Amino acid sequence: MRVLVTGSTQGIGYAIAQAFVARGDEVIVHGRHNLAKAEKACEEMGAAHALVCDLSDMEQVKGLYARTGPVDCLILNASVQFKANWLDVTEAEMDAQLTVNLKSTLSLIQAYYPAMQEKGFGRIVTIGSTNQYRQHPELSFYAATKCAVMSLVKNIAKFVAPYGVTVNNVAPGAIETPRNADVCTDSTARAAVEAAIPLGRFGQPEDCVGAVMLLCSEAGGYVTGSDIVIDGGLRL
Ligand SMILES: NC(=O)c1ccc[n+]([C@@H]2O[C@H](COP(=O)([O-])OP(=O)(O)OC[C@H]3O[C@@H](n4cnc5c(N)ncnc54)[C@H](OP(=O)(O)O)[C@@H]3O)[C@@H](O)[C@H]2O)c1
Repeated sequence: MRVLVTGSTQGIGYAIAQAFVARGDEVIVHGRHNLAKAEKACEEMGAAHALVCDLSDMEQVKGLYARTGPVDCLILNASVQFKANWLDVTEAEMDAQLTVNLKSTLSLIQAYYPAMQEKGFGRIVTIGSTNQYRQHPELSFYAATKCAVMSLVKNIAKFVAPYGVTVNNVAPGAIETPRNADVCTDSTARAAVEAAIPLGRFGQPEDCVGAVMLLCSEAGGYVTGSDIVIDGGLRL
């Protein structure tokens, strides 16, 4: 199968892309604008292609399908996150999170879906967040974009199901990726986060892989419009 994993130069996307490569799929690694970084990740994992496309630029987003051609599995993992108290979130931060996290998600589904419909098969997985369910003092707008993506997932899933296409969301909790490097390397901050996680530890990127692979396997073929939360119980 052909697979595009957005934001697969590092972190969760990298682990997901690596798993598809291990399954024998033709994987496209994607990053924001550092092509050398994307190519390095591609080479490390033995993926087929590497490219960059800034998902905060809708013109670039609209041009991505023409560069990759159709895929069987579209994994929409890339996002941006700005931490700020809800009273202090700036309009620029709102715009960036809205564009990368929500608008590019729908735009890419619009671009990649028609070929899936024609083929009668497709797997679309968005990567959300436990913040869809849990209130974080500095992630109000980020959480809102993730909730909005979940709404899109449920809506689109219903209407594309007759064409053999499933659409689901996987919602990680606190995962040890470069995004969280500051917290993970500060022992006090790390302990505070881990104390709030019923399973008692940060997740690893690999913890998020199984759910995505299930949704893109025959065993997961009857799952659509769903959300799989992988947070060690953090939202509880
Ligand atoms: N880590 C967590 O604790 C956690 C928790 C809940 C949900 N999530 C979600 O899981 C997903 C992956 O998180 P992560 O922690 O692995 O992320 P990460 O380490 O910050 O990596 C982000 C990836 O997205 C790409 N990216 C960032 N901005 C982009 C843009 N404007 N256009 C295109 N690509 C862009 C980056 O590419 P470059 O390398 O080229 O910059 C990188 O490959 C995200 O959707 C995130 O919201 C993460």
